[in-house]
Amino acid sequence: MSSPSLFKQASAYLSLCYSELNKLDLLESRLEEVEKQINSHGKYELLDFELSYGAKVAWRNSNKCIGRLFWRTMEVLDCRHLNTEEGVFKALLNHIVFATNGGNIKSTITVFNAHRNIRIWNPQLLNYAGYIQENGTIIGDPKNTLFTQKCINLGWKPGEGSFDLLPLVIKIGDRPVQYKCIPENIVKTVSIKHPQYKGFDRLKLKWYATPIISNMTLEIGGNHFMAAPFNGWYMGTEIGARNLSDEDRYNLLPDIAEVIGLDRRDKNSLWKDRALIELNQAVLHSFRGAGVKIIDHHSASKQFIQFMRQEAKEGRDVTADWSWIAPPISASTTQVFHTHMDATEKSPNYLYQDDPWI
Ligand code: ARG
Repeated sequence: MSSPSLFKQASAYLSLCYSELNKLDLLESRLEEVEKQINSHGKYELLDFELSYGAKVAWRNSNKCIGRLFWRTMEVLDCRHLNTEEGVFKALLNHIVFATNGGNIKSTITVFNAHRNIRIWNPQLLNYAGYIQENGTIIGDPKNTLFTQKCINLGWKPGEGSFDLLPLVIKIGDRPVQYKCIPENIVKTVSIKHPQYKGFDRLKLKWYATPIISNMTLEIGGNHFMAAPFNGWYMGTEIGARNLSDEDRYNLLPDIAEVIGLDRRDKNSLWKDRALIELNQAVLHSFRGAGVKIIDHHSASKQFIQFMRQEAKEGRDVTADWSWIAPPISASTTQVFHTHMDATEKSPNYLYQDDPWI
């Protein structure tokens, strides 16, 4: 019997929600109603405003996110009424277009029904394929080799490029899994160019504008929304200091060192560090040039400190995971590096889930 504990979780969230939204006069009767629903159906439905506020507070509680200053501005698209593959695909394409907003990216979440077993198999709605070659080398994004193979097994025709968009893959209930290609013309992509080193062009680097995480569960008051893709906008280092540069991702620092003429034999030349900085400058420069919203790690750190102050003013402590908040380059030049953080986990929140395709 999970019901008593579900009511406990419901009542914890609804108390928070109604108190922060100055609706405490309505709390008691709402809790009675929820208790009735739980007793007769083993579950309860969140009202529109409860869902929408919960998604925002879940962002506010995301310990790994440096961008939480803007938690109140999230756009919540309620798709709990959808029950068909066609409807879900349409809503996912709509999310890509709506959130990308021509480059002026809007933090957005699309919430699907928690009780219909709707699962999105993609880790992010936009992700690049990774192909393992006969000789063991990888073309594309090594992070996605397993999922790419899964797509191929489902019948998706692979490309052969380094930046091939994977199809959307969904499964509802016990119906067969379905995939659908994303029309290229709705995906905003930025070519990465360096303002001075024209040799960067030779590398033909690019990245998509909008990071839309689709493999986490939104938990609000004991409700688990397993299909609830959400996005913010990029911080430059995610692309420049991780996706394109990690050795187990695109591993491009050696190529960049080559292009800008650094001596890779001399460890004391800090060639990796120099290549990293040039790549990160190129990412910020290219996104800004293309009119796509992006934030540098210095500004993001300032905003996070502002978020901590704002929360303190409202009487809440901020929990955070330092190892995620400190940026992967030049960390000690940012204030977050020098800030103590407590990583206690709160609810509502966004939780990891197991890959449904393993
Ligand atoms: N780090 C992930 C990526 O590079 C995206 C995570 C979410 N990032 C964000 N700025 N909201 O694709």
